[in-house]
Amino acid sequence: MEVIIQKDTQAAARLVALMIEKQVRFNPYSILGLATGRTMEIVYAMLADGHKAKGTDFSLVRTFNLDEYVGLPAENENSYRSYMNRRLFGKINIDIRNTFIPNGMAEDLHEECSRYERQIKHVGGIDMQLLGIGQDGHIGFNEPLSALRSITRVKALTPETIQQNGPLFGGFDLVPRRAITMGVGTILETTRCLMLVTGGSKANILRKAIEGPISSMVTASALQLHPHCTVICDEAAAADLEGGDYYRWIFMNEPEWEDYRNLC
Ligand code: GLP
Repeated sequence: MEVIIQKDTQAAARLVALMIEKQVRFNPYSILGLATGRTMEIVYAMLADGHKAKGTDFSLVRTFNLDEYVGLPAENENSYRSYMNRRLFGKINIDIRNTFIPNGMAEDLHEECSRYERQIKHVGGIDMQLLGIGQDGHIGFNEPLSALRSITRVKALTPETIQQNGPLFGGFDLVPRRAITMGVGTILETTRCLMLVTGGSKANILRKAIEGPISSMVTASALQLHPHCTVICDEAAAADLEGGDYYRWIFMNEPEWEDYRNLC
């Protein structure tokens, strides 16, 4: 795992957007894994701007989202389908038929989960997976105690997650209690992972996830097992990290990051 610390949210999001653009330029047929949440809003705004200003071409790209609430129709403004259409898909030249999100309204949710997992395998797996982190350390909706080899399935949300997402729904009572999510194992199968973490409220959980023990109680810690995972965070989220100086040194000195140093 590598950890890249940027001075603020803007710079951290910029780095993530640049890495996604580079991936799409390198392979126009890229399979991207996408995430939702407030953290990602700025990344998607930057990708949309990049499409407009630099002509980043998404016409051949296919995307798979991490998760979707159970029981929310796609048209509901709080569904992740609606979030993605509004914030990204509607603003770039992606073919909407190439954007995949689990169907939380499926009659047979179990079959829907298996189908989603099969679809990911069918396209040859995810090249680059974008991730955020929940306050309880979840990735996707892999709540505490999710098996580290789990695949796409229905998970019950914790009270903490419901609390965290409550304001977006206009009240905790309105937040669905369950979601379909890619499993931790599904995420570990992706070729490359980028986890973006910003803001001081995530400092404690970020430390646990990347410097703490691997545990199903903090599913983001499973990323320590991923062969190529980069965590990008801002100084506020990095505040509790013990290895901060070392991580900063990597970004400033390792050749891999040279191109990005001047751009961010
Ligand atoms: C939801 C999503 C996660 C996301 C998390 C963080 O729970 N399922 O994928 O990482 O929110 O959200 P935010 O970025 O709003 O803190």
